Amino acid sequence: MSKVSVCFVCLGNICRSPTAEGVFRHLVGEAGLGDRIHIDSAGTAAYHAGESPDPRSTEHAARRGIRLAGQARQFLAKDFERFDYVLAMDAANFLELQRQVKSETARKRLFHCRDFDGASPKGASVPDPYYGGETGFEEVLDLCEAACRGLLEHIRREHLA
Ligand code: 4NP
Repeated sequence: MSKVSVCFVCLGNICRSPTAEGVFRHLVGEAGLGDRIHIDSAGTAAYHAGESPDPRSTEHAARRGIRLAGQARQFLAKDFERFDYVLAMDAANFLELQRQVKSETARKRLFHCRDFDGASPKGASVPDPYYGGETGFEEVLDLCEAACRGLLEHIRREHLA
């Protein structure tokens, strides 16, 4: 059975998208759907390529029992061929990803991550926590949890029912 594949995309792939990846993996694991959903993340920029998630993101996630892993990599236009859902963490990265859309299939695969949170305004962003304080990392986790719960419901309904 083919897997539904999901890639979360932020700027550096060290804070927001690895957090969303870890949160979603945690929820998918709890739901027993690990063998049905492939989960990855990437950044539109390459400056942190090869790095582990930011230790602040890792520490805040660990407090909630969520493990962050993986090495940062840059999103490539051809990733639109590999992933059913390309989830932009903010509006700026959505625009950059939109620039890389070259087909109708790709266009249909690009989403604002927070649009899967029914309580979130359309096109809303997960704010960049990189230059801010500790509360920013907690907010990223809260927003990722809400969006990822909605995303899992959506995937169950659309693909796994
Ligand atoms: P991310 O956060 O996009 O959530 O991984 C950032 C990481 C690094 C930088 C900006 C945002 N930076 O400017 O280096």
